[in-house]
Amino acid sequence: MNKHEAPIAIASLHTATRHDSGPKHVSGTAEYIDDMIEPEGTVHAYLALSSRAHAEIVSVDLAAAKAAPGVLGILTAEDIPGENDVSPSHKHDEPVFAEGKVQFWGQPLFAVVAETRDQARRAAHLAKVEYRDLPHALDVRAAQAAGGTLVTEPLKLERGDVAAGLAGAKNRVKGSIAIGGQDHFYLEGQIAMAVPGEDEDVTVYASTQHPSEVQLMVAAVLGIRHHAVTVNVRRMGGGFGGKETQGNLFAAVAALAAKKWNRACKIRPDRDDDMTATGKRHDFVVDYDVGYDDSGKIAAVDAVYGARAGFSSDLSGPVTDRALFHADNAYWYPAVRVRSEPLYTNTVSNTAFRGFGGPQGMMAAERWVEDIAYALGKDPLDVRKANFYGTDTDNVTPYHQVVEDNIVHRVVDELEASADYQARRAAILKYNAGSAILKKGIALTPVKFGISFTATWYNQAGALVHVYKDGSIHLSHGGTEMGQGLHIKVAQVLADAFGVGLDVVKIMATSTGKVPNTSATAASSGSDLNGMAAWDAARQIKARLVRHAARLHQVSEAEVEWVQGGIQAGPKFVPFAELVASAYLNRVQLSAAGFYETPKIHWDRATGRGHPFYYFAYGASVSEVTIDTLTGEYVVDRVDILHDVGRSLNPAVDIGQIEGGFIQGMGWLTSEELVWDDKGQLRTKAPSTYKIPLASDVPPVFNVRIAEWSVNKEPTIGRSKAVGEPPLMLAMSVVEALSMAVASVADYAIAPRLDTPVTPERVLMGVERMKREARG
Ligand code: MTE
Ligand code: HPA
Ligand code: MOS
Repeated sequence: MNKHEAPIAIASLHTATRHDSGPKHVSGTAEYIDDMIEPEGTVHAYLALSSRAHAEIVSVDLAAAKAAPGVLGILTAEDIPGENDVSPSHKHDEPVFAEGKVQFWGQPLFAVVAETRDQARRAAHLAKVEYRDLPHALDVRAAQAAGGTLVTEPLKLERGDVAAGLAGAKNRVKGSIAIGGQDHFYLEGQIAMAVPGEDEDVTVYASTQHPSEVQLMVAAVLGIRHHAVTVNVRRMGGGFGGKETQGNLFAAVAALAAKKWNRACKIRPDRDDDMTATGKRHDFVVDYDVGYDDSGKIAAVDAVYGARAGFSSDLSGPVTDRALFHADNAYWYPAVRVRSEPLYTNTVSNTAFRGFGGPQGMMAAERWVEDIAYALGKDPLDVRKANFYGTDTDNVTPYHQVVEDNIVHRVVDELEASADYQARRAAILKYNAGSAILKKGIALTPVKFGISFTATWYNQAGALVHVYKDGSIHLSHGGTEMGQGLHIKVAQVLADAFGVGLDVVKIMATSTGKVPNTSATAASSGSDLNGMAAWDAARQIKARLVRHAARLHQVSEAEVEWVQGGIQAGPKFVPFAELVASAYLNRVQLSAAGFYETPKIHWDRATGRGHPFYYFAYGASVSEVTIDTLTGEYVVDRVDILHDVGRSLNPAVDIGQIEGGFIQGMGWLTSEELVWDDKGQLRTKAPSTYKIPLASDVPPVFNVRIAEWSVNKEPTIGRSKAVGEPPLMLAMSVVEALSMAVASVADYAIAPRLDTPVTPERVLMGVERMKREARG
């Protein structure tokens, strides 16, 4: 066979390739932890949760729970051989089981271990707990009023002379926006199964984005070394940040029981307990003071970002940091001072959620842009454009990183044209003037999102690649699959590198035994990091194979060319499998560990200066809505999106991420409302009261496009860009469109200032306020 006969039809990089588990997802054969065959004698654990927001525990009577049918025993803080802590910030403020006091309604007190899950679950409700109530603060304003204890050092970003900028500005706007939280509502809830091994060993199957941290936590709780714990993750049924840290406790409890009774143990909370006991997106209250001129150009921004951290630090420091990193969205502020306030509250400890604080930071930016537009009687899009980062000047962020890859102008201009924004806005203004009850709104909002973990050391990844004698390949990397399509992308990288078909590459479950010391699959950087690590492993094996082929076929290494299906050694084509078989016989190592560390980045939190992001991902969306001013009900009629993924690794997966991210963001900003009662109990803990978007909420016209001309300026894998989180923030245009529709009631003369989520109730209240203030 010569070079031209090599097979060519292989799916590789940049091609629209379906998710590797797609057929299994839709046919119900994809295996999740609850589907796994349970080892003989598996027992089940169930958590008992506190029913006070803040109280001393006076007494706990476990007699009835212990005596309940099937119960093997109860795990309390006293049963923990190591540390009673699963705090990911290592501040030792997150006990597995409460000791002495409870700090939120829903805090785990103990776990019942029984023969069946139902027995454990029933027995967990039989304990009698006596409390002595302590004062509680539940939300941002209450925490601020109570003195504002911070769970971690605040971050301050500052650039330019803010006082002079504000004082010298022709116009000023002061205000605040309340931005709601969000439950992850992953389809598969938290779950873990632990299988005891010999000596101290334990194997944990966990639904986690962060197997290495689960390993560390299980080891710390059991008081053993990391090497005794193996954590495996085949896939999650959704994570969205809710499984970056929140799975730690469940894994630790399962492992505790497994070692104590020497039986496998599984733990899976009911949905309402999952929603009550696990952290969510942080709700924020942002107080701002902004100076601007008559053209709408911002002179200075001064803002404080209060966030409901919950009872422990968890990731609230990094989350509020990322909010500040996105206080600019796509806008240049000549002078800026922003400060975070991650406030301790007697609620569940809030955590990572797609965007990781960035969405809240950007929502606030869009709010003052909107305020300025309504104060000046301008189209908000004009105010947005007036404040975009420049390309060569006006391009320094509040954290002193220069924006070097700004494409916001092109993205916005192209979308404005393709969505026919100007004509539609003119038509809507006309429609509103003639429509008494129904009002429409349209808005175009931009997104600029920083890519890299701001914890710089997290920006590393490993992979382990084995090539077997028949030419088939095992791919292990440090990333986890939660539905986002990471595995197929990394498999594409490997297939492309080796010039083989995707069927040759087997994607292995993520395991701490295969790739050690991994970072959470988070910050959208899964494919950036693990794709490069896998590529590095392939590079090493390929170099050895080239050396071997050159020797075997007596050509120079330069004459060996990697082609699809195999190699070309001078005139001779050698199929991949044949090459591998002969390499084995010649004692060539066919396995390699790859590694990658993101270049260029650095960050000094103390000074608020650095280059925390490798690059930025951009996007823009136009939303059109219709509201009913009598009821506040509304529909999103049409959405157009243009989003930047660099050179897409897999356009099918990326379009899915953009669509899904947008809809999830729309849910966050419109219908998903978390309500705690004054006792601190979460009242929206089921789909009956917590409303995520339905299939029927997808806009009837939903045009999603990738900016196909975009190429990452940095040498990322295939010149792609991260896609997981940024599209969520495209949903801000829905809020802005609703704002316009509400503002139409008072002829666009009053800034609508709707808090999020913009529920129909908030729309109605906004409309009523417009009517009142227009009259008065
Ligand atoms: N997509 C699906 N289907 N399910 C998920 O849980 N999580 C999001 C995003 N897209 C998520 C998802 C979040 S929060 C992140 S950080 C990224 O995927 C993580 O994966 P990546 O880094 O491989 O993009
Ligand atoms: N994003 C997501 N998860 C994280 C980050 C981040 O920047 N830092 C630590 N965990
Ligand atoms: Mo995503 S919030 O970084 O897991």
